[in-house]
Amino acid sequence: MKENFSFDVLVVGSGGAGLTLALKLADARTRVAVLSKFALTSGSTYYAQGGISAVFDAEDSIESHLNDTLDSGAGLCDEEIVRLTVNHGKKSIDWLREQGVMFTEEQSISGETKLHLNREGGHSHRRVVHTDDATGKAVSLSLIERAQENSYIELFEHHNVIDLIIENNRCVGAYVFNSLQQHVKTFAAKVIVLATGGASKAYLYSTNPQSSTGDGMAVAWRAGCRVSNLEFMQFHPTCLYHPAGQSFLISEAVRGEGGRLILPDGSEFMHHFDERAELAPRDIVARAIDHEMKKRGIECVYLDISHKPAPFIREHFPNIYQQCLQFDIDITQQPIPVVPAAHYTCGGVLTDNFARTDIKNLYAVGEVACTGLHGANRMASNSLLECLVFAERASEDIKQKLTQLSMPKNLPLWDESQVIDSDEEVVVSHNWNELRHFMWDYVGIVRTDKRLNRAMNRVELLKKEIAQYYQDFRVTSDLLELRNLVVVAELIIRCAQERKESRGLHYTLDYPNLDASQPAKNTVLTPKNYRKSD
Ligand code: FAD
Ligand code: SIN
Repeated sequence: MKENFSFDVLVVGSGGAGLTLALKLADARTRVAVLSKFALTSGSTYYAQGGISAVFDAEDSIESHLNDTLDSGAGLCDEEIVRLTVNHGKKSIDWLREQGVMFTEEQSISGETKLHLNREGGHSHRRVVHTDDATGKAVSLSLIERAQENSYIELFEHHNVIDLIIENNRCVGAYVFNSLQQHVKTFAAKVIVLATGGASKAYLYSTNPQSSTGDGMAVAWRAGCRVSNLEFMQFHPTCLYHPAGQSFLISEAVRGEGGRLILPDGSEFMHHFDERAELAPRDIVARAIDHEMKKRGIECVYLDISHKPAPFIREHFPNIYQQCLQFDIDITQQPIPVVPAAHYTCGGVLTDNFARTDIKNLYAVGEVACTGLHGANRMASNSLLECLVFAERASEDIKQKLTQLSMPKNLPLWDESQVIDSDEEVVVSHNWNELRHFMWDYVGIVRTDKRLNRAMNRVELLKKEIAQYYQDFRVTSDLLELRNLVVVAELIIRCAQERKESRGLHYTLDYPNLDASQPAKNTVLTPKNYRKSD
């Protein structure tokens, strides 16, 4: 069995960020390996619905996209990063079209064909380019196809990064567990890029696929990188509430087309919370739903689009229509039961405007990173845009750097001599369930100091148990994810404990207002083994 691999660049993750970067590097004849923990479609990208924000409408402007993003971010966005990102919207969409992504089009009054634009919360214009209501699937499948036919890219499915290899303050490779062969390999590379997605699976209810266990954040933290703003976990307001629904998302675009949130008695409530009602930014809508559910002791609220003509609904939301129909919910006739669920990690590994982390030759791109774009609350459909823009920026920087780097040699092999096969897998599943439950109950939409302390006490116990388990037994995929989840849970709680105010997605009953007495600050956590690049 081959144990050692060498590539110019090792990209960890096959979502929108990882594949965009790999394709851009391959254009310059760079040899790239792309790893995916499960299948190539396993990341959140494949499941994205609403679309990608970019200024195309004649009435819209870059300035308006910028201002809406800053407004949603509640005072914490980095304006320079926002400008850089929104400026690249059109270019990013054009690039995706060149890769074969077919976006939904419409005829203008003058008869010309143009992109159809969705509207979503926080956006003051129609600005979201999409492929029906399954944009991520269209993007993922095109990028995967382009990568598969590219001879400079090698794709490794079911390859799970355990930890990075750092030598002399440089990242030189990674240990990778092949979950099909149950075997650990060593990958050497001149540059390593984390594109591992978010950490929403730290919560009991989440819109995310299985892969979102915050691995890249935990791996980078253990290696010595700073992380930032992890208290800002975004809860999507409208996840299908159905025992068999597996947290299926009901896109914000449904509200963009006039969907109304109602209580079980049919009354509307969003106008009590914000003048933008259903189209207020996500933090406000999710908190309003949570408030109504707790106040009334109800299990869900309802999203109703049935007042629109049935053909319109079926044409605009074919995927959502079909999925709901499977659960005997005909959205053209009846309201959809919905609840909020963990959806997006606004914080992450701290990066600069070229996606560089604190460690030399280590980059982080996409949801794993904290670039400063989202501030305290990401605006809808800005995430895929961020993946595309920062993959492009990282590729530019990496291409320049590669000429000066040599291939790392003689990396130490993975040592399994001190471990045996586990005889108690139940420990992993039990701890996994416990962690997600207390994160949901104590570190969710509404927090208090007491709840955060309770969660931290439990993390401390779990950390010891998991560390012992990791030391004694051979790794498995579940154990690796649990080991990362407990790190990320701790980092989320620590960030939340540091913020003594309510801002954006972080809402605490102990400090219910925004602290306007001092300038808004990012939360930055520094690991004990912090090694800033010289
Ligand atoms: P992902 O697409 O999550 O990919 C992560 C990759 O990393 C996967 O291949 C995974 O297998 C791999 N990986 C993870 N850990 C490891 C490891 N240890 N070793 C090896 N590989 C690993 N955003 C928008 O802008 N517009 C939308 O309409 C939209 N809709 C959404 C709908 C849903 C249901 C969800 C869940 C999210 C949505 N988002 C949307 C958010 C957006 O999809 C994500 O933020 C974005 O796709 C993240 O892309 P990424 O490439 O960073 O990570
Ligand atoms: C959605 O379609 O509601 C998701 C959009 C996003 O997360 O940006």
